[in-house]
Amino acid sequence: MKFSHEWIEKNPWLLIALVVLVVSVGGLVEIVPLFFQKSTTEPVAGLKPYSALRLTGRDIYVREGCYNCHSQMIRPFRAETERYGHYSVAGEFVYDRPFQWGSKRTGPDLARVGGRYSDEWHRTHLNNPRDVVPESNMPSYPWLASSKLDPQEVVPKMRALQKLGHPYSEEEIKQAPSELEGKSEQDALVAYLQGMGTLIKAKR
Ligand code: HEC
Repeated sequence: MKFSHEWIEKNPWLLIALVVLVVSVGGLVEIVPLFFQKSTTEPVAGLKPYSALRLTGRDIYVREGCYNCHSQMIRPFRAETERYGHYSVAGEFVYDRPFQWGSKRTGPDLARVGGRYSDEWHRTHLNNPRDVVPESNMPSYPWLASSKLDPQEVVPKMRALQKLGHPYSEEEIKQAPSELEGKSEQDALVAYLQGMGTLIKAKR
C-alpha cells in the first residue's frame, strides 16, 4: 500500500507537505515567467511617464478616493470591450505607482475615459455630477476648482519616481513647476482623466 493515493490521504502531514509543494511549484511556474516577459514589463509604444500636471492630478484622484467607486482595468470580455473599448494591457501601467486597477465598480471603469468627454464636461461633472447625469450618485467635488496647486510640490515626487526608474529628464523636472503655475486641483485632475488609456485606440 506504500505510496498509493489512499496512503497519502490517510497521512495528513504528508498530504499537507505535498499540497504545499504542488501549489508552490504551480505558482512559480505561472508567476515567475511574467517578470521576464516583454508583454508584461515593457511600456506600450509611446508610453511616457506622467507629465507634472497629470502626475499631480493622479495624486488628487488617489487622495479623493475615486478608486473606491472606479476601476481602471478593462477585462478581455466582450461585455467589457463593447462598453469601454480595448481591454487593458500590462504595458499601459508601467508608470503607475501604485496602479489603480481595482475591482469596485459603483461607477464605470475609467481606464479609457480619456478623450471620451470634453474638459468642460468633466469640470461640470466634478462640480456636480447631477448637472450632466441626472441619476448619478457620484459625490460632488466642487472645492477642486478653487484650490490652487503649489507648483513646487511636484518636484520631489518626480525626483522620487526618477530614482525608481521613470525616465524623467532634468529638463522636464526643471520645467515642472511652471506647468503647474496658476492651475487648480481640478485642472490637474481633468488633465489626468483626459490622458487615461488613450495610447491604445478603441474600436468603438
Ligand atoms: C460613491 C461612488 C463614486 C465616487 C467616490 C466617485 N465616482 Fe465617479 N462615478 C460614479 C458613478 C455612479 C458614475 C456614473 C454616473 C455619472 O456619470 O455621474 C460615475 C461617473 C464618473 C465619470 C464618467 C465615466 C463615464 O465613462 O461616463 C468620471 C470621469 C468619474 N466618475 C470620475 C470620478 C473621479 C475623478 C472621482 C474622484 C474625484 C470619482 N469619479 C469618484 C461614482 C463615483
